[in-house]
Amino acid sequence: MDQITFDYNTVLSDVHMLLPNSRHLMTRLNSVGQPGRFIYIFTSKFEILSDTERHDQKDSLTKENSDTETQVVKQKDGEEVGESTVESGLDEDGDFDITRRPRKNTTGDCHRDIICPVILKQSNTSTLLQELDAEDEADDSFDGVIRIEHTMATPLEDVGKQVWRGAFLLADFLLSKPLMFKAATVIELGAGTGLTSIIMATIAKRVYCTDVGEDLLSMCKKNITLNEDMIERAGGEVRVKQLDWLKSDLCTDSDVEFRWTEEEVADIHDNASFIIAADVCYDDDLTDALFRTIYRLCSNFVHACTIFISLEKRLNFTIREMDVSCEAYNHFRHCLSQLEDLVDGQCSYTVEQLPCTFPQFLRYERIEQLELWKVTTKRVPADQAKS
Ligand SMILES: C[S@@+](CC[C@H](N)C(=O)[O-])C[C@H]1O[C@@H](n2cnc3c(N)ncnc32)[C@H](O)[C@@H]1O
Repeated sequence: MDQITFDYNTVLSDVHMLLPNSRHLMTRLNSVGQPGRFIYIFTSKFEILSDTERHDQKDSLTKENSDTETQVVKQKDGEEVGESTVESGLDEDGDFDITRRPRKNTTGDCHRDIICPVILKQSNTSTLLQELDAEDEADDSFDGVIRIEHTMATPLEDVGKQVWRGAFLLADFLLSKPLMFKAATVIELGAGTGLTSIIMATIAKRVYCTDVGEDLLSMCKKNITLNEDMIERAGGEVRVKQLDWLKSDLCTDSDVEFRWTEEEVADIHDNASFIIAADVCYDDDLTDALFRTIYRLCSNFVHACTIFISLEKRLNFTIREMDVSCEAYNHFRHCLSQLEDLVDGQCSYTVEQLPCTFPQFLRYERIEQLELWKVTTKRVPADQAKS
């Protein structure tokens, strides 16, 4: 039997881990395929809930959350075994297998039974396109369902090929504010698989969905194609473009597939009024580069710009602190403060954390560590701007 090995820097998004009835992550990855000799690509569907479904979900959650522990114990082996808080045992490989008690969720929107995605298929890259094309013909309109091609468990440099919970939080926020984004021109930074851009394109006029890496951008473009019915029906448009925070200019090189045309550069300059980014602050150097990019873009835009950034505070125990902390989050907050304190630019910036009380349109665990931040820019009048 193949040995399962994960590199020290392999990460797996909770979105893909917390599927319903997944008893044991390794067992599950074993059965569906995992990174290694082949790169497996999955296509998952994510439902946008209808009004009725959202109400039903809310009602059942209110009821279920009142006895979460009993529910969890039931989930594991199908019968009620009492109210123990942690259940343990050995799995087939002899590993200690523990079902943890979920923390109570303050928003009341959390229950593992509701977690999606549903994996539609897995494939290695060579056969994927043919299979998807055939399937597209058979079933080309998923009403209210987004299909996303992604991988599972990637090295850190490929995290964009998975879907992260921050993408859902931001998508929920967009869906809760259709009037705000109606007819807007929007840039998404670090878009990954493109899920949030696709949602945004069902509301806005044009979304520039940006990231780095040709293979990631190709996967993202494929996802736009998979969902183009939904996007077209809404009258929106997504353009997948390369935008590397570590570079100061937008790439217009004619030999780069995801380059910007002169018209597109002019379009964002003249018309962009929103920047969105989901789960993009996990490395201090990249966070610095992200904020430099935001600053550069906003300074060049004709219109004042509003930026929405979602993130998940990932707490870790560190020897240095001898405590749980989230250094990446602390650095993000530091960058926000620096932006707010900036007085010598062409814009002034106001920062605000938004309450995550907007409705949940997509199925995921809206844990309390998910946050949404809003940065508003205001142009500094010419006579007050310092050079
Ligand atoms: C954790 S993923 C989030 C992806 C997606 N927004 C989501 O929430 O599912 C972080 C994203 O930041 C992107 N990223 C990292 N470094 C970048 C850079 N220098 N320029 C642009 N994007 C970058 C990654 O490629 C990846 O797509």
